[in-house]
Formats: sequence, C-alpha cells, structure tokens
Amino acid sequence: MIERAGGMFRAKPPCKAPTTRNGMRRRDGLLAAKEAIVQRFGPWTAHNLHLGYDVFTVQPEEEKNALVERYLRILSDFGYSSLRGVRILDLACLEGLYAVELARRGATTVGIEVREANVMKAVFARNALGLKRCSIVQDDVRNLSAGKFGSFDVVICSGILYHLALPDSLRLLEAMYEVTTHLVVINTHVALGNLKENPHDLGELVTVEHGDKSYRGRYYREFPSEWSQEDKLRHLWAALDNDQSFWFTRQSLYDSLFQSGFAAVYENLLDLHIPIEDSDRHFFIATKDSSRGRASQREPRQK
Ligand SMILES: C[S@@+](CC[C@H](N)C(=O)[O-])C[C@H]1O[C@@H](n2cnc3c(N)ncnc32)[C@H](O)[C@@H]1O
Repeated sequence: MIERAGGMFRAKPPCKAPTTRNGMRRRDGLLAAKEAIVQRFGPWTAHNLHLGYDVFTVQPEEEKNALVERYLRILSDFGYSSLRGVRILDLACLEGLYAVELARRGATTVGIEVREANVMKAVFARNALGLKRCSIVQDDVRNLSAGKFGSFDVVICSGILYHLALPDSLRLLEAMYEVTTHLVVINTHVALGNLKENPHDLGELVTVEHGDKSYRGRYYREFPSEWSQEDKLRHLWAALDNDQSFWFTRQSLYDSLFQSGFAAVYENLLDLHIPIEDSDRHFFIATKDSSRGRASQREPRQK
C-alpha cells in the first residue's frame, strides 16, 4: 500500500508465498507456465512484476518499483488519488508494467504494444493476476485513434515518442490529444542544444520543416540500415521499422504539444540528479481543457 497526502493507492495484493500443498502446486504451475513463455519468447527484459506465490517476472522484488511509484505520484498530484474506474492507456507497454500495476490499483487499463514477444509476456502477467480490467492489444501506436480505442482519462506515453520518425511523432501527439479527456504523461528523451557527451550517437542539431511548421531536434539511428525486419523485431525495446527516429528539443516538444491542442504542459523533476541543462530524459504532463469531462464517466466505446 502506498500512502499519499492526497489519498491512498491500494494494490490488489498478489497471492503470498505458498505455505500449503495447494499453494505449492499453484506456484509450480505458475513457474511452469512462465517457463513456457520464456522458452517461446525469451526472458523478460525489463518489467519486474510480482505474479503471486513469490513468482516474479524478472527477480524477487528488492524494493518498490520506483517508476510505478513516480506515475502514482504524478496521478495523485493531478487529482487521481483513487484510480478506481479511471481509464488509462499505456502506449508501447512492453511487458505491461504500467497497464498491469495501475489495473491492480483499480484503474481500467489498455496497453498497446506491437511486438508479439512483449505482448505475450504482458498478457501472461495480466492473466496470472486475474486482472479483468486490463486489456493488452497488439497494435502499432501509429494506429491510435478514438474511433479504434475509445477515450481515456490518462494516456501514458513512456519510452516511445523518441522511437518515432517525423511526422509520426506529431501524429501521435495529435492522436493522444484526441483520445484523452484530461492528461497525457510523456516520459521521453529530448535533444539537448549543447551535447557535452553523445552516448546515443545523435546527429547534429537540425531544423526540419513539416507543413508550415519547423521542428528542432536530432536524429537517432535505431538500426543499422542493412538489418532485415526480422532483425528489427528481435530488438525488443526499439522502433518497429523506422531506421531513424527524431528527438525533439524541449522547446520543440512544448511547441508541438501546444500545436496539438493541449492547454498546458508541466514537467515533473522528481529525481533530477544532474543539472537540468544536461538532462535529456524528462517527464512531461500535458493537460487538456478539462471541461470535456472524465472518460470514466462516459459509456465505454464498444469495439
Ligand atoms: C523503450 S521501450 C519502452 C517500454 C515501456 N513503455 C516503458 O516505458 O518501460 C519501447 C517499446 O515500444 C514498442 N514499440 C516500438 N514501436 C512501436 C510502435 N510503432 N507501436 C507500438 N509499440 C512500439 C517496443 O516494442 C517497446 O516495447
């Protein structure tokens, strides 16, 4: 349980370590099912989830998941001290961490992920925890629209914007504006004007024209150009098919969010441990005019 000044997030607890023969049997069944996923799709690469009976997707939990805690903090700060009935979309959800953990705390969640290997792991965790209000959909985030996915109080866009090319990233900002009734939380890299080091091997700072607008940023190479689509699919954290993506400068990202229609943009600097001018990874929270009401107060769209 995590307590906050503004409220309380109570996670549906996974089953405890087994003490009975029945519990041991269930644990063995869970371990065998997890092993079958690993055999077919490889081991979990990032998202550590407690599936119950002391079975974890990655490793026994040593400390609380700091990133989940951070999202809970942001959601609480923006009025979601309870997640019950709140509709949340988790874009490019990888192994389903946010979709699953927020559903465990009462939200109705949808995770969209394009790679089958990641989708199957997210679905496995969702099923192991019996989360009926968590859907994992295999799709390309570039297909996001309200017509296809309905509307959401909150959209989480973590680790995907900087894997898209222009103008796909601009279209995604517009689609997020379309599907959210309230806010979008974006965790993304930005292109710094002055690169003291270049660990990501980014290109020069450039200005790119699109339509009647221009955008500042740097290109990032996702894959060597000779890679086949199969090679790209095996790279489980990368773009789907674009050989390079575009990282906006912070200013261009702000401009693009406002162009997409968002009313305000905030930054969350919870763990800024280096000078802000040297930090290239940030949490942006973009809000929409909230007079449109909560997605959770409307009838869900039938798919
Ligand atoms: C860096 S990981 C971030 C994962 C997760 N959102 C997080 O923050 O931990 C990028 C994810 O985006 C997925 N992805 C890349 N391009 C995508 C696309 N066009 N549509 C859907 N998912 C995509 C990848 O398969 C991978 O799971």
